[in-house]
This record gives sequence, structure tokens and C-alpha cells, in this order.
Amino acid sequence: MSASPPVTVAVLNQKGGVGKTTVTLGLTSAARAAGDRVLVVDADPQGSATWSLGAPTDDPDHDLGRVLDANRNGAAGPAVVPSAWGPLVDVIPAGPTLAAREHDHARRHPEQRLRRALTGVEGYRFVLVDCPPSLGLTTTTALTAADLALLVVEPGAYANRGVAAVLDLIDEVWDRHNRALDIGGVIVNRLPARSHEADARVDELAGIVGRRAVWQPPVPQRVIVNEALGEGRPIHDYRSRARDLIEAFDRLYARLRRAAGRARSADRNEDRP
Ligand SMILES: Nc1ncnc2c1ncn2[C@@H]1O[C@H](COP(=O)(O)OP(=O)(O)OP(=O)(O)O)[C@@H](O)[C@H]1O
Ligand SMILES: [Mg+2]
Repeated sequence: MSASPPVTVAVLNQKGGVGKTTVTLGLTSAARAAGDRVLVVDADPQGSATWSLGAPTDDPDHDLGRVLDANRNGAAGPAVVPSAWGPLVDVIPAGPTLAAREHDHARRHPEQRLRRALTGVEGYRFVLVDCPPSLGLTTTTALTAADLALLVVEPGAYANRGVAAVLDLIDEVWDRHNRALDIGGVIVNRLPARSHEADARVDELAGIVGRRAVWQPPVPQRVIVNEALGEGRPIHDYRSRARDLIEAFDRLYARLRRAAGRARSADRNEDRP
């Protein structure tokens, strides 16, 4: 168990169905296989991550919406539940009140609430926040709490057009709410085998965000992803049937650990007088 506070990662894209939950859970599966503890925060009212991790989606005492309502330092702690993936993976479920919060702009500094809630939450290497498919208040709240932003994109022309808006939001949150926020990188999900069109789109994406920002390898398109989400099992459980997916998520998780190390040392340097 790590003694330093966890690194918080917002997994985001405003587009639905690109694989935010798949990547959140794939990285969680890789962390678990590496023996690292992870807290998954389900910030999407659809509750897919909660459901796939075998946690309740209808328990008012374990509900991210309530945690945000509480607006207290450390409010996240009591909302944590164990997952069905074993002792290394815990969850803060997306519960019944989360959906109502998206339009809660009337309150003061609503975007600070997850950051406050996670204060003092310890014992995890990472807190992974699975964001909803929008760039609204909930995603802003996740970015305000995050050390790293991780974009998930599908290789496609429309997808690339949407990336600029996500980068703008990250800049805005950095500027207004969170100077510790770093763009971790971009994960390309659902890469079809041998597609010139997809390869061209990945090149185009690298032109937008910079080649180094596009993490390697892309996550391949495989039906077993759907099976794992539906059965609520970590991808690493499928062993030889999911070999290339497991290898991809292991490499992406190794990259995440390196990015987290860099974000931490940059923070320390910034804190120096
Ligand atoms: N690499 C992949 N190969 C095959 N299917 C995939 C892959 N990634 C995601 N999918 C499928 O695409 C669908 C959407 O994926 P997922 O739920 O992870 O996206 P999302 O961005 O979290 O969606 P939402 O915006 O609704 O939260 C799921 O049915 C999932 O099984
Ligand atoms: Mg999702």
C-alpha cells in the first residue's frame, strides 16, 4: 500500500460510447493485476462502472451525488464500497441523486466538491474517475479534483473534431480551478485491425494533440470487451482469450504510473518557494 496520497485521474470525453468506462475498468484491471489498490469513482449517472464492478446503483448511502451534496472535506470516505473484483478495488457508486446534480450551478463553487470530498482518502495508488459523456459540471468537477486528465477517443473524423473542445475545458479548469491538473494523455480505443482509415485518423489526432500525448498502444477492438463489461469481470480474468487487450492495458497502466510520477514531482517543484 502506498503511503503517499493517491493520484486522481479523470477519464473523459464529451462523446458517448467511446470507451471511457472500458478504459477506466481496463486500467483498474491492470492495476489489480499489478497489486495496486484503486478507487473507482463513478461520475456517470448511467452507472455502468458501478454495475460492472458489482456495486449497488440504488443505495443512497453510497452515492456520489450525496457525497457532492455534503460539500465536506473527506465526505467521500463513508461512500466507498468494496467491489466484486476483490480487495484491491473499491468504488464510489453513481447513485440515485447523481443525475440531478448536473444542473446544480446555483451553488457556490460546485466544481470544488469532489476535490474536497476526496481529501484524506488514502491507501490507493490511483483514484480513477469515470466521467459522463458531457463537458458539463460533473466533468468539470472531476477535472478540478484531478492530477491527470486522460482522454479516450475512437479513431474517427468526428472524434478528432471533438478533441479541441475537451482540451479547451482542461485549459479552462487549469486556469480557473486547478493548477495541479496535467493532460496525462490520449488513449485511442477500439482500433480496428488493419484499417488505413483508422490509421489516418490516429495520425490526424497526433497532429492535434502532439504525437507524444497519444499513448501507446491503442486498445484493439474486441468483442470480449463487451463480454467483460456485461459479466462484470476484469479483462485480466479472460487470460488467453483477451491476450492482446491485457497486454495493451498493462502497457497503458505502466504509462499511467510514469505520468503519475512526473505529475507528482512537478507538483513538488511548483510548491517550492
Ligand atoms: N475496444 C473495444 N472493443 C469492442 N467493443 C468496445 C471496445 N471499447 C468499448 N466497446 C463497447 O462499446 C460500448 C461503449 O463503451 P463504454 O461504455 O466503455 O463507452 P463510454 O464512453 O463509457 O460510454 P458512455 O459515454 O455511455 O459512458 C460498450 O458496449 C463496449 O463494450
Ligand atoms: Mg461510460
